[in-house]
Amino acid sequence: MTTDLIHHPYQPPAGWDAVPPGVFKASTVIFRDVAALRARDYTAKTGYTYGLRGTPTTYLLEERLATLEGGRFCILSPSGLAAIMNVNLALLAQGDELLLPNNVYFPSSDMAASVLSRWGISHQFYDPMNAADLAAKISERTKLVWIEAPGSVTMEFPDLPGLVAAARARGVLVALDNTWGAGLAMRGFDQGADIVMQALTKYPSGGADVLMGSVVTRDEALHLRMLKVHGQLGLGVAANDAEFILRSLPTMALRYHAHDAAARQLAAWLGSQPAVTQVLHPALPGSPGHAHWAATCSAAAGLFSVMLDAALSRAHVDAFVDALQLFKIGYSWGGPVSLVVPYDLGAMRDDRSAMPGHLVRFSIGLEAVADLQADLAQALLALG
Ligand SMILES: Cc1ncc(COP(=O)(O)O)c(C=O)c1O
Repeated sequence: MTTDLIHHPYQPPAGWDAVPPGVFKASTVIFRDVAALRARDYTAKTGYTYGLRGTPTTYLLEERLATLEGGRFCILSPSGLAAIMNVNLALLAQGDELLLPNNVYFPSSDMAASVLSRWGISHQFYDPMNAADLAAKISERTKLVWIEAPGSVTMEFPDLPGLVAAARARGVLVALDNTWGAGLAMRGFDQGADIVMQALTKYPSGGADVLMGSVVTRDEALHLRMLKVHGQLGLGVAANDAEFILRSLPTMALRYHAHDAAARQLAAWLGSQPAVTQVLHPALPGSPGHAHWAATCSAAAGLFSVMLDAALSRAHVDAFVDALQLFKIGYSWGGPVSLVVPYDLGAMRDDRSAMPGHLVRFSIGLEAVADLQADLAQALLALG
């Protein structure tokens, strides 16, 4: 009886056809015979070998994401940070050096300072607003340059062509974290990147419910280097998570542009408030790197920061953030709920003196803009 429940011969009719893709879940993949088992190679995606190596659901998502970025190959990892680790561990070896922008996503520099440095891989920070600084820091040991556009807290938009040209001139690989651009405001390969990474956790998910990362390439040999290490590290993703992203991708452009429009409106309004000394939003004139953004991007994400007056105390700033009702206090971005985080720049940057005041970052969700503005207005009263 139990065996019949497991090996029941009924097969549903083939040819199920519907808009949503199927969700295939398995650890074991069954081979027709030993010859099939011996013949299959997951790296070419011509067959399946084991759930960790890919399923019809994850292959489908990989193809769509490669298309989104204008690339050919895609590797999925269980988080954006895991995708960054996949790139680093595949391309760096003992004695190599990694260059990171000085406004890099903090866990990425933390990984370099702890994990990579223990394995004899050094790193240096460059000024993303100064391509000559990057050029000067490239040495024989430099094997990889990461770029973020913009920095996801301080929001400077770099001179992408200048940075890419500096790395290219020395034959160094360029990896672009395009989580902010999402393949919509800009496509990484149009900018000359070799590797385009995204935290799918943000806009491709859109639901604040899935963690995932992607690494897209055009060059097959480079892709295979990273795919091999990805397999060796066991970085597969779950089919249900891939399903969520596949469900969200068709609405991503609509959501992205709605986040963008609302964020620009709120950022401009905040800029008119007396307590706000600077708005850090690359699409707004006066923001660091605005001209670079204008030369590169057709849109912007729903993420921006403001500097609050240095004369305010930290307690005032905390009271402002605590007073917000619709904005929830929390990390990440790209979801339907607006988020806010006060950042301690001193802990993140060694050049804090260049940015006097208190930085507060907002991720604008999909609530009505008027309600968000009213929420900000009532909370600003907490600043006295
Ligand atoms: C710019 C950027 N890159 C990468 C990541 C990492 O993504 P995840 O949270 O999926 O690990 C984040 C997360 O906040 C991010 O902001």
